[in-house]
Amino acid sequence: KDLYGAERLNSQGVDLSDPLLVGPLLSGMAASWSKPWTGGPIVGGHTPAGTGRPIVDPANNSRVVGHVVEATAEDVERALTLASAAHHAWAARPVTERADCLTRAADLMERDHHSLLALLTREAGKVLPDAIAELREAVDFCRYYATRACADFQPMVMPGPTGERNELRLTGRGVFVCISPWNFPLAIFAGQVAAALVAGNAVIAKPAEQTPLIAAAAVKLLLEAGVPPEVLHLLPGDGATVGGKLVCDRRVAGVAFTGSTETAHIINKTLATRGGPIVPFIAETGGQNAMLVDNSALPEQVVDDVLTSAFRSAGQRCSALRVLFLQDGIAPKVIEMLKGAAAELRLGDPALLSTDVGPVIDGEALAVLRQHVERMKREAVTLFEGQLPYSCAQGSFLAPHAFEIDSLAQLPREVFGPVLHVIRFKGDQLDATLDAIEATGYGLTLGVHTRIDRTARKIAERMPVGNIYINRNMIGAVVGVQPFGGEGLSGTGPKAGGPRYLARFAAERTLTINT
Ligand code: SER
Repeated sequence: KDLYGAERLNSQGVDLSDPLLVGPLLSGMAASWSKPWTGGPIVGGHTPAGTGRPIVDPANNSRVVGHVVEATAEDVERALTLASAAHHAWAARPVTERADCLTRAADLMERDHHSLLALLTREAGKVLPDAIAELREAVDFCRYYATRACADFQPMVMPGPTGERNELRLTGRGVFVCISPWNFPLAIFAGQVAAALVAGNAVIAKPAEQTPLIAAAAVKLLLEAGVPPEVLHLLPGDGATVGGKLVCDRRVAGVAFTGSTETAHIINKTLATRGGPIVPFIAETGGQNAMLVDNSALPEQVVDDVLTSAFRSAGQRCSALRVLFLQDGIAPKVIEMLKGAAAELRLGDPALLSTDVGPVIDGEALAVLRQHVERMKREAVTLFEGQLPYSCAQGSFLAPHAFEIDSLAQLPREVFGPVLHVIRFKGDQLDATLDAIEATGYGLTLGVHTRIDRTARKIAERMPVGNIYINRNMIGAVVGVQPFGGEGLSGTGPKAGGPRYLARFAAERTLTINT
């Protein structure tokens, strides 16, 4: 029990093999599933009344998780007015006070772990281990940025001539807009918002259309933790009505965005042409993530890491493996073992502990993936095609698939789901393979499996990729341990969960005093 008198999520996570821990966790979540969840704009601490649009469980399309009221143009204007009036006072507060709000929010997320986990499984279709990892990541972001801010936002005394004192300070920029995706509806949402707030900005957050209920729960906790209601606003709604309006507005002093590369380009262009102040744009986007496996690799470890990287979270991580490059000597064995191991993956209700692969986010995503699978069946060699159990008939499920293709040219865009592509290469084609990966223009994650140290080092040194993983899986970057974010078409940096992230949300000011 903690100071709130409630069971909190164990700070080490949850041992899912321990029935004494799992029993209460599941019954706590079950109590939350039946709640009539509601979400909507939160502007100045208030949510308008109304029934709103139903949010459907991706694992069972006949189950309504809750309802969301979409933000109107008036909500957008009110949020901008309140945030613009409030950011100076918030930035003037001692950084320790802003950091305390984040630390309290992390505590409150742990306190409310049953309902947050319930929402992650039902609204976002997360299997329980992914939901727990995501909640932990959200908590980590809050604590990490709180700690970093207290260190980084102290005035830095610069060397200078006698009789003069020079200080460099970081301060809030004004109103920051945070636009977040559905694939990490709590962790990425909370990470962006926490960073912008602790850096001294007022924040207007626009969550993904698919996952507004978790976002509303997170904002309520941040407000309960002490963030003033005029400083943090939530505007659920579609990209054009809400996101577009916000980005065009000259009162907005910065934008943090995680989502598709195409949308990042649109936002970038809007910010460049709207006039007014030149503002920072922080984008984390997609990838065409590859893993290279040479003949020296350990096949058993490769197979385990490929399954985790390609199919965990139903392949809906921006870090997920899309294209597996196998050297010709090891390829037959790895492919054979992959077929056997993939057949063991269980699809089903994300809330069941036995489920390995949950649904994709919605029917629209499923339709795009199915279209790709049909094209691959015509144009590539099918290595395996998972079967959907009857229990998945009501949901947006796609069983894991793998196809062997000849070249990256057969994949014009990122395929955001449980579909793996395999390309064989010969020993003397390593450089050409690296050239081809680089030529995609993406640079988010890269996996390498080799027992030749020289090969690993050579790849790591030459590839313009944000997160490179050697001899392990390539997902699940940990806050403060593997700062995360890509290059090129994959994003602008700085890295989320890294020591330089907060500075991009802040303005730098130099103060020179003649003493
Ligand atoms: N940060 C996530 C991961 O590393 C991806 O979004 O898997």
